Amino acid sequence: MAAAAASAPAAPRGTTLVCASLTARSPQEMAAEVAAAAALGADVVELQVGCLEGFQPRRDLPVLLAQPRPLPVIVTYRPKWEGGQYDGEDQPRFEALLLAMELGAEYVDIEFKVADKFMNFLSGRKPETCKLIVSFHNYDYTPSVEELLSLVDQIQATGADIVKIATTATEIDDVSRMFQVLVHCKDIGAINTIVRRPDGKLVGYNTDYVGAIAAIEDAIRASQPADPTTSLLARRLFVVIGAGGAAKAVAYGAKEKGARVVIANRTFVRAQHLATLIGGTALTLSELENYHPEEGMILANATSVGMYPNVNESPLSKKALRNYSVVFDVVFIPKETRLL
Ligand SMILES: NC(=O)c1ccc[n+]([C@@H]2O[C@H](COP(=O)([O-])OP(=O)(O)OC[C@H]3O[C@@H](n4cnc5c(N)ncnc54)[C@H](OP(=O)(O)O)[C@@H]3O)[C@@H](O)[C@H]2O)c1
Repeated sequence: MAAAAASAPAAPRGTTLVCASLTARSPQEMAAEVAAAAALGADVVELQVGCLEGFQPRRDLPVLLAQPRPLPVIVTYRPKWEGGQYDGEDQPRFEALLLAMELGAEYVDIEFKVADKFMNFLSGRKPETCKLIVSFHNYDYTPSVEELLSLVDQIQATGADIVKIATTATEIDDVSRMFQVLVHCKDIGAINTIVRRPDGKLVGYNTDYVGAIAAIEDAIRASQPADPTTSLLARRLFVVIGAGGAAKAVAYGAKEKGARVVIANRTFVRAQHLATLIGGTALTLSELENYHPEEGMILANATSVGMYPNVNESPLSKKALRNYSVVFDVVFIPKETRLL
């Protein structure tokens, strides 16, 4: 199981990124895997450079990190004592990681056990654009919540930009404990998917917003010609009804794409809370009825209103709906809700 909490993230805080971990044996093969991961929708790739046969940092890293690259990269060079391939002194490994930073890797990962030593080695040479992930792995079990939270503090104290904790789940309680830590650490506080990796580790993700945002972008694309270099949601006014888990995910996704997000919710205080969390504004449901500051607004219903069996309900009046150019509904059943 893995949890990561960013204290100075490249992506907006709380954003969930899907990372593809690559273990190819040659730089050319790894570059092809990066392209494949991008095509499959990954947000970031982990280049496990220790898996490259006869890895020579000065020869191979410039190939792997050459621009333009389709995705941001995490470079890891894991030693054997932490489950990796590298069997040598720390110094050459540290030099390779520094080189990766200098060649423009967006993230570099170092093990918690040697994080202080690595910081001393760096002596302020880490470029501003590179985020340092300090990672902890427990391949035997999942520690208690208290131990995990203390670990988060200790990792943060090393100067990490991003805290990564990966543990081994043996019982369902382990998953729940890990979630408590995630909820504590991540603003988004919602996970909807647990993936068991081939190595048996469980990783939690939030994928709610990925499908929702992609569907909304498809609808915008279908209705207007778009500049392929900019996000279809950039600067658009994006209204989310609801302030629960689904609303949080959709609002984060829209914000990440550059939209101006407005949260409207039955319980106004929850709308305010979510709006503050993501940097948006809050409305009451009655304010929403007459809300029309501009044309081309996007609406996402993220409440259960209209869900079977209450299929005749709608979260917004027909009159107010005319103010939106694209409408999305998270409700699963029926497929075509009254709102749509
Ligand atoms: N399509 C998808 O991929 C997907 C994914 C996840 C969830 N969902 C669906 O999304 C919906 C919400 O799930 P959730 O996990 O976000 O639930 P949640 O955390 O319980 O939040 C429910 C939200 O709906 C609002 N709400 C409920 N009944 C309402 C009513 N009668 N009038 C006005 N607002 C009402 C709540 O407002 P208050 O704050 O005032 O209570 C709250 O904002 C569910 O129908 C779920 O099945 C869909």
